[in-house]
Amino acid sequence: MSSLRAHDVSIAFGGIKALDGVGFDVMPGEVLAIIGPNGAGKTTLFNVVSGLYRPTGGHIELDGRGIEGLPPHRLAGMGLSRTFQNLQVFTEMTLIDNVLVGRHLRERHSFLGDLFRLPSVARENDTSRKRAGELIRRVGLEGRESAIAGTMPYGALRRLEIARALATEPQVLMLDEPAAGCNPFETRELAALIRSIADDGRAVVLVEHDMRLVMSISDRIVVLDRGRVIARGAPADIRSNATVVEAYLGRLGAEEAARA
Ligand SMILES: Nc1ncnc2c1ncn2[C@@H]1O[C@H](COP(=O)(O)OP(=O)(O)OP(=O)(O)O)[C@@H](O)[C@H]1O
Ligand SMILES: [Mg+2]
Repeated sequence: MSSLRAHDVSIAFGGIKALDGVGFDVMPGEVLAIIGPNGAGKTTLFNVVSGLYRPTGGHIELDGRGIEGLPPHRLAGMGLSRTFQNLQVFTEMTLIDNVLVGRHLRERHSFLGDLFRLPSVARENDTSRKRAGELIRRVGLEGRESAIAGTMPYGALRRLEIARALATEPQVLMLDEPAAGCNPFETRELAALIRSIADDGRAVVLVEHDMRLVMSISDRIVVLDRGRVIARGAPADIRSNATVVEAYLGRLGAEEAARA
């Protein structure tokens, strides 16, 4: 049985269909990539699946249970966790406190209410602190538990976000552009980390524009363009798919060539 399955999901903003009948599924141990040009609907799909938006149509199942319309903290409790395209790091806090606060915020209903309790949250009990330390080490940041987040390189903060997403012990992890802003070395390290998280038995959904990363670690790929699925398949098939090259990969290749 698949961990996460979306079927025929649609949502419109002011009459514009941001998602139009989109479906995918992902199993434990698998990396499923969702790729496509800017504005294709990738983040919107994450927002719908993770409970920020309610779809206007379709079904989403987590381990066979319908979850559409459930709020994010309920989904976190059911084993679904995500990161955001823009870094969501508390730069004045230590790495370990970032993980602790992230865990706490995901589990509670009121974000604002909790913001006023941050100091007490940061003094969480020893068990939580120990687990947060393990997660920091799990993402390759051992020895930096007490470093202030704002002093760390960008690639480290991207990994910190993954540690924080893992803090709710998810079975399904959704990563929205985890390598955005990273240099090639940091991106290679991230690729190995993401692959190993799936190899631990989690289902990973990856949105990313770095095609080297996507092609190197994904089991399957779904391609979105203007809210619709235009292709799905193994990396080798997607790379040589004429429709995908036309809609996305060709343009991306030209941009990379122009930057080089
Ligand atoms: N809350 C919203 N209100 C109105 N329009 C929205 C909203 N969220 C997304 N959209 C629109 O939906 C479309 C898909 O946007 P989305 O952010 O999902 O694209 P994306 O594939 O993640 O792009 P990128 O690669 O640039 O991150 C865009 O046209 C966007 O303007
Ligand atoms: Mg996006």
